[in-house]
Amino acid sequence: MDYLGPEKIIKKKKEFYMPCSHNFYKNPPQIVRGLMQYYYDNEGIQYLDFFSGVSVANCGHCNPEITCVTIEQLQTLQHTSTIYLTQPLVDLAEKMAEIMPGDIKRSFFCNSGSEAVEGAMLLARLYTQKEEFIYLEGGLHGRTYLSSNVIGIPMWRTDPFLDANKFHIALRPWKKDLNIDEAAKISLRDIELILEKRKGKIAGFIAEPIQGNGGIIVPPKWYFVEVKKLLEKYHSLLIIDEVQTGFARTGKMFAIENFDVVPDIMVVAKALGNGIPISAFCTSDRIANTFTKPSASTLGGNPVSSKTAIAVIEYIIKHELIEKASYLGNILKKGLESLKNKYGFIKEVRGIGLMLGVELDDDGSLTDLILEKMKDRGFIIGKNGLGRNVLAFQPPLVITVDDVFNILTNLDEVIKEVL
Ligand SMILES: Cc1ncc(COP(=O)(O)O)c(C=O)c1O
Repeated sequence: MDYLGPEKIIKKKKEFYMPCSHNFYKNPPQIVRGLMQYYYDNEGIQYLDFFSGVSVANCGHCNPEITCVTIEQLQTLQHTSTIYLTQPLVDLAEKMAEIMPGDIKRSFFCNSGSEAVEGAMLLARLYTQKEEFIYLEGGLHGRTYLSSNVIGIPMWRTDPFLDANKFHIALRPWKKDLNIDEAAKISLRDIELILEKRKGKIAGFIAEPIQGNGGIIVPPKWYFVEVKKLLEKYHSLLIIDEVQTGFARTGKMFAIENFDVVPDIMVVAKALGNGIPISAFCTSDRIANTFTKPSASTLGGNPVSSKTAIAVIEYIIKHELIEKASYLGNILKKGLESLKNKYGFIKEVRGIGLMLGVELDDDGSLTDLILEKMKDRGFIIGKNGLGRNVLAFQPPLVITVDDVFNILTNLDEVIKEVL
C-alpha cells in the first residue's frame, strides 16, 4: 500500500480541513494500523499505545473478537433508523440496564459524547421543568451548543456567546497545594451557594466522576454522595458523564461506582463502541417517563453500532477487564509514584485503575518533549490538564504487566534525558 506520509497529510490537512484541528507531536507519525494495544505507522514502526485514542479502545484496537461481529452485521443490515424495528437496539438497551448502577434502566442511543450530553441535559430540563445547570471548573462535556456551555476548561470554550447566566461554573474538588478533602469541601460550598442563589432554576449538576481533560482529578470518596444530597434538597438532578471513565477503565464498570452513589442520569460514549461511533444517556423509569414527545437520532443505535457495543460489553466481562484495570492500574500507579519520589519535577500522581495522570512542574513545553521522546521510543502517552502539563495514562485494558514495566523504564530514562 502507498501511504501519503506525515508531511503530505499535514499539507492536505492545512489546505482542506478546518484549522481548529491540532495534532500531538512536532513530528507526528502516520498511523495506518491498530491491533489490540499497538498502533503501526506507515513505516511499519510499532507503538505501544497508552492513550487508547482518548479512552476509546478499552478492548484494544481492531479487536478481532469484536470486529468480526461488526463486520458480520455490516454485511447483513447497516441501517434502518429507529422508525423501524430492529433487535440489536433493544438487546443493547437491555444489556445496558444489566450493567448500569442502581435503578438506571432506560437508554437512548446516539452517536457522540456531545450528543448524549445534550440529550441528558434536555431530559433534566423535561423532568425538573427548570432550565439552568451547574458544572465544574476543569470539566469537559462536549463541543456542541448546550454541551459547550458546560465546559470548564478555557482553551475549549470556543463559542464567543456562551451563556453564563444559565450555566454556572463551580470550583472543582481540587486546588493546587490544598488537601483534597479541603478542596472538595470548598467545591461543595460553591455548589450550594449557586443552588441557593438560583433557587428553583437549576435543572441539574453535570460532572465527570474523574475529570479526564481537566487533568485526571479524583474527588474524595464522600464528594458525590454529598453533592447528591444537596441536589435532592434543591430538586435538581445529578448527571454523571462517564464518556472517558466508563467501561472498566477505573476497576469498576463505571467510575461513579467508586463513589457509592447512583446518579439520576448517566452519559456514556467512547469505549462503548471501542471505535465505532455510539453513545447513550441512561436513566431510571421515573425520569425517563417524562421524555415522551417524539425524539430520534437517525443513526443512533443502528444495528452495526448496537451489535458492536453488545460485543464490547461481553468482551469486557468475558476477559475480566474490570479486574485487569484494577490490578495493572495499581502496578502502574506504584511505578509512577516511585518516579515521583525520584524526580521533584513530578508534582502529583493521580487516578484510579488505568486512568492515571502525572502532573509535572512545567509550563507545558517539557511535557510535549516527553511525549515526543516517548513516541520516538515507540510509546504513545496522552496529555491533559488546565496547564497541559499532565501526562495521561489511559491504555487499552488489554495491556500486559510487561507493557507496564516497559513504559515505566522508558519514562524514567526520558525524564532523565529532558531534565
Ligand atoms: C468527559 C467527556 N464528555 C464528553 C465528551 C464529548 O464527546 P465527543 O467528542 O464524542 O462529542 C468528551 C470528549 O472528549 C469527554 O471527554
